[in-house]
Amino acid sequence: MYALLPLLCAAVVAASPLEQRDTVTSTVNLGNNTGSPQHLASGFIYGIPDTPNQIPDHFYTNIGFNYARAGGAQVPTPGRGWIWGLSEYKVRFASALSNYKTARKYNANFIFLIHDLWGADGTQNSTAPYPGDNGDWTSWDNYLTQFISDMKSNDAITGLSIDIWNEPDLTYFWNAPQAQYIQMWGRTYHRLRKEWPSVKLTGPAFAGQPDPTNNWWTNFLSFVASNSSVPDQYVWHMEGGGGDMEGAYGALFGMLQTYKLPVKPLNIDEYATFPEQVPAGSAWWISQLERVNAHGLRGNWLSGWELHDLMGSLVSKPNADNSNYSPTAGGYYANGDYQVYQYYNLNMTGYRVGTSPSTDLKLDTYATVGKDMVRVLTGVRITTGTWQITINDLSSVGLPSSGSLNIHTWGFPSGGHYAEVDVPNDLGWYSHTYSGNSVMFPVYQTDKSTAYAFEFYVG
Ligand SMILES: *[C@@H]1O[C@H](CO)[C@@H](O)[C@H](O)[C@H]1NC(C)=O
Ligand SMILES: *[C@@H]1O[C@H](CO)[C@@H](O)[C@H](O)[C@H]1NC(C)=O
Ligand SMILES: *[C@@H]1O[C@H](CO)[C@@H](O)[C@H](O)[C@H]1NC(C)=O
Ligand SMILES: *[C@@H]1O[C@H](CO)[C@@H](O)[C@H](O)[C@H]1NC(C)=O
Repeated sequence: MYALLPLLCAAVVAASPLEQRDTVTSTVNLGNNTGSPQHLASGFIYGIPDTPNQIPDHFYTNIGFNYARAGGAQVPTPGRGWIWGLSEYKVRFASALSNYKTARKYNANFIFLIHDLWGADGTQNSTAPYPGDNGDWTSWDNYLTQFISDMKSNDAITGLSIDIWNEPDLTYFWNAPQAQYIQMWGRTYHRLRKEWPSVKLTGPAFAGQPDPTNNWWTNFLSFVASNSSVPDQYVWHMEGGGGDMEGAYGALFGMLQTYKLPVKPLNIDEYATFPEQVPAGSAWWISQLERVNAHGLRGNWLSGWELHDLMGSLVSKPNADNSNYSPTAGGYYANGDYQVYQYYNLNMTGYRVGTSPSTDLKLDTYATVGKDMVRVLTGVRITTGTWQITINDLSSVGLPSSGSLNIHTWGFPSGGHYAEVDVPNDLGWYSHTYSGNSVMFPVYQTDKSTAYAFEFYVG
């Protein structure tokens, strides 16, 4: 947010009737090819059953599932992790290893959550130990020795990333001094790097987005610059219901310059609040993440065994929402949100083109130009109202610079996190007249959760 402030002020000062209209417009620039679609947002944290093959393959493959993240959190006692002894560690390790194998089956990357394997998954008690308590690193060093040995003996290195600690800026996951966290980062980074030069070491996985007034960020970045322990991907979370990706990345970019740090890939390995995990919110997040080329993993708001099931609220099954829920039952079906990710992966082919969100940041678009059609996916951030979409440079896809354009609309309804939705709604074709090489049309958002896709043939 910080980096965007000067821009927002300039827009207010320069407000004119035309620019006021811009506040409700998301723009697609068909002439701005931004590269091949890799469906960067098709990941989720946990959500994979510990029983192999429980969710049928097509649910993973049709959304182009490409990033997993787990570490055995919340498995039932006795499985509370290293801090309760080796046998409880082994229960968590088995869960994480199973999830790793499922991810690799689909060639997805796997981010190992070693704070969960340690036992700091949020269910630990208030006197639970943290690495380096009272300056004693023995338990952490022994833990890493055990972890490294188990990963090697299970040949679980390909496609592996390690988030060195999850959300240490929340006492929920790190109830010890910040300086101790930073020492832990430095020790752990160098040990794992020496062991596995090709495994990605990622972080800081803060709950708070980059912000030059946040001393978790400034102290971390300043330390890694001096300690030669720069993460291979900059990771943070976007689950507060505020902020946006250009603002957050702008703030990070400014701090990278301050601390003379290199630009690295981004990974938002928990994104979206639970209410945002509906078609409109997902389309909004996809647009935001794709714009800054960030990998994204859906946050997971379920707990207990459901944390280890339901693909981060993309699929459901009978009794998933009541007390007859069974962790091992089958009968999976897709929900409405799933349909967005399936369309994003299977249908939005060709090349991506640049888009910009409405300046109120409430409507966003992600667009591709395929051999057959232009496809524009759009969603609001859980609100209602009327916005518009402007599509510029129609001649760049072989269309005349004026005339009429038939646009096909799909509606992606929600139905709720647990409801079966098997197809989007075909809302038919409408003809729009246009001139000036640009077409503009309204989006009437009468509910907070439906996403839309607009398609038209290239020339
Ligand atoms: C708190 O958890 C630690 C392990 O993390 C355990 O050793 C200790 O006995 C627990 N304390 C209580 C009061 O349960
Ligand atoms: C990085 O920090 C850790 C923790 O203080 C320290 O053990 C290590 O020697 C440091 N490495 C370098 C290269 O500065
Ligand atoms: C998306 O592509 C698939 C596979 O080609 C096709 O079966 C499906 O009808 C398409 N869906 C939409 C909404 O266009
Ligand atoms: C193309 O789109 C990208 C992503 O939105 C944007 O960063 C870039 O500035 C755009 N380039 C031009 C020439 O508009």
